[in-house]
Amino acid sequence: MALPPGRLMAAIFHHRANAVFRVVLVLLFGTPAVAVAGLMLLGRSPLGTQEQTPRSQPVQFDHRHHAGDEGIDCRYCHDGAERSAIAGVPASDKCMGCHAQVWNQSDKLALVRRSYFEDRPIRWVRVNQVPDFVFFDHSVHVHKGVGCVTCHGRVDRMPLVAKATPLNMGWCLDCHRDPAPHLRPREQIASMTWTPEGDPRALGEKLMREYGVRTRTTCTTCHR
Ligand code: HEC
Ligand code: HEC
Ligand code: HEC
Ligand code: HEC
Ligand code: HEC
Repeated sequence: MALPPGRLMAAIFHHRANAVFRVVLVLLFGTPAVAVAGLMLLGRSPLGTQEQTPRSQPVQFDHRHHAGDEGIDCRYCHDGAERSAIAGVPASDKCMGCHAQVWNQSDKLALVRRSYFEDRPIRWVRVNQVPDFVFFDHSVHVHKGVGCVTCHGRVDRMPLVAKATPLNMGWCLDCHRDPAPHLRPREQIASMTWTPEGDPRALGEKLMREYGVRTRTTCTTCHR
């Protein structure tokens, strides 16, 4: 007596076996795929790249007051950005340049005074970092017309600095393939509010010629 295939299966496997099989199938094939896809998405999501997550710091230094209200140029404190690979974080004597007079009794500055008088650096918590096998250089970007705000966001509005962009390979390459719309005149490098007048691409292409900007996508640009 011939049974249709479905009935045959039903006759051989109890319907509970069927459910078990499905679960096994999902575990065998579904989960690794889902897990891999999940990890890939996580890696690209703001959660995985730790974007927008402020780190607490030993001193509650607030860029809103310093770079915002007081309008101190970014490069006054991060002077490495223009001349070297590393932007750097200022030593306490730079803070004391003002805070020996301003707020010189404030508890919030106790650690800064101690650091200065005992000559021990403050251990700021690092926010932006690329892995060791990636080469990055601030001064090249600054000289070729890429502004701080393009990579670090509105730092002048951050009570505590948080990463504003993914800083991963895809993000670096997006700009390296087509830098024109991301460029600005060098005089505006540290401005948080500059916007191009007219077409950003037209201005960018003009700046590419003026500053001799090339597209740089070979692996050895960043991995050397
Ligand atoms: C008065 C000095 C001062 C000025 C001006 C200043 N900063 Fe900072 N900046 C600091 C200090 C101190 C830290 C370390 C503590 C922290 O992360 O808030 C820091 C941290 C940072 C970081 C995070 C560093 C990391 O670990 O990744 C970025 C990015 C940054 N500043 C960008 C800027 C930009 C852009 C400007 C101009 C709009 C600016 N800063 C102006 C003192 C300054
Ligand atoms: C150019 C002068 C200047 C420099 C340099 C400077 N500050 Fe300030 N800072 C100020 C002023 C002005 C205020 C008050 C801002 C306000 O209340 O609006 C202030 C406020 C502060 C406060 C808050 C104090 C309180 O009791 O509320 C902290 C903390 C602070 N600064 C830390 C630092 C650190 C750390 C550095 C060095 C990395 C630094 N400052 C460098 C001018 C400066
Ligand atoms: C093209 C993107 C880009 C631009 C433009 C840029 N930065 Fe950065 N910045 C980074 C990256 C990437 C890191 C992490 C570097 C590392 O891990 O070596 C970083 C790190 C920093 C740090 C932490 C200390 C350090 O040097 O590693 C500070 C402070 C900082 N940047 C400030 C600035 C300031 C101020 C400007 C503008 C004058 C600026 N950056 C322009 C991408 C950029
Ligand atoms: C918004 C645009 C932009 C972003 C984002 C950006 N770059 Fe660049 N980068 C440039 C430009 C423009 C140059 C200059 C290209 C030239 O003319 O040689 C450059 C040059 C470089 C160079 C060449 C330095 C040298 O010695 O010549 C390195 C290395 C580099 N970038 C690394 C990175 C890394 C790593 C990232 C991501 C963490 C990154 N860049 C993100 C625009 C960008
Ligand atoms: C503009 C800079 C830049 C260029 C060009 C570049 N990379 Fe990367 N690469 C990065 C950065 C930044 C990371 C770190 C990624 C992260 O932290 O998510 C990275 C990470 C990697 C990794 C580690 C795995 C990963 O995805 O995190 C490999 C492998 C790699 N790159 C290979 C390459 C190869 C091969 C090329 C040439 C086809 C290349 N890269 C070109 C910036 C670059």
